[in-house]
Amino acid sequence: LFSKDPFSASKEIAKEIAELIRDKQAQNKPCVLGLATGNSPIELYSELVRLHKYEGLSFKNVISFNLDEYYPIQPDSEQSFYQFMNMYLFDHIDMLPENHHIPDGCLAKDAIDDYCTDYETKIEALCGIDLQILGIGANGHIGFNESGSREDSKTRWVALDDITIKEASPYFSGIEHTPKAAITLGVQKIMEAKRVILMAWGHKKAEIISAAIEGKVTKNVPPSYLQKHHNVTFVLDHASSAKL
Ligand code: GLP
Repeated sequence: LFSKDPFSASKEIAKEIAELIRDKQAQNKPCVLGLATGNSPIELYSELVRLHKYEGLSFKNVISFNLDEYYPIQPDSEQSFYQFMNMYLFDHIDMLPENHHIPDGCLAKDAIDDYCTDYETKIEALCGIDLQILGIGANGHIGFNESGSREDSKTRWVALDDITIKEASPYFSGIEHTPKAAITLGVQKIMEAKRVILMAWGHKKAEIISAAIEGKVTKNVPPSYLQKHHNVTFVLDHASSAKL
């Protein structure tokens, strides 16, 4: 799907999500969404909020799993993905708080492995993610699966790439205050999602989008694994699709 502008593209994605939620409601089933942070989905979340406020879309049957969270970070820290999700989505819709899942950025180190296994078990107990929203880092991460992440990688603690740390640093007032690690959903659970929508806007994403879609499938470019997914859509604007 090539759309002229991120705004109308986000509206279309929101419409698809709303249909899925309503379908599941009609079947009395939960709708399991994989959610992303970053600038790319902000417009999508604001459209979902609008559908809730003005078109009666209820999120009561939605269970969400966020892709990632910095580590270490306190949930009440301004830069946490926990705050991001509250600010752009959760505070404005009727999802039940017990149905949001965001990796915990302040676990004791020796508790992380069990926590990550449990995160995946919860997803499996719901028969997997129905729809996974993804952004893409200019250096090729999906979630925080940086270059080198295996296709069968699990949910885990990861060290962030230097470029990722540098890009995040303005939000943390300098590199020295920027987390150097994160907890991320693994590539495997992303690939197991029944449907994946990856959003990318702007010329900074053009190079990586071309590598992801037209390059060879390689662990150096984790989004290239999506070439093997049976139900994926890359939603791009003119600038991010310029090198295809
Ligand atoms: C962030 C998130 C990713 C996101 C990516 C792109 O660090 N961990 O899940 O997809 O970077 O961000 P943006 O949408 O702001 O370009």
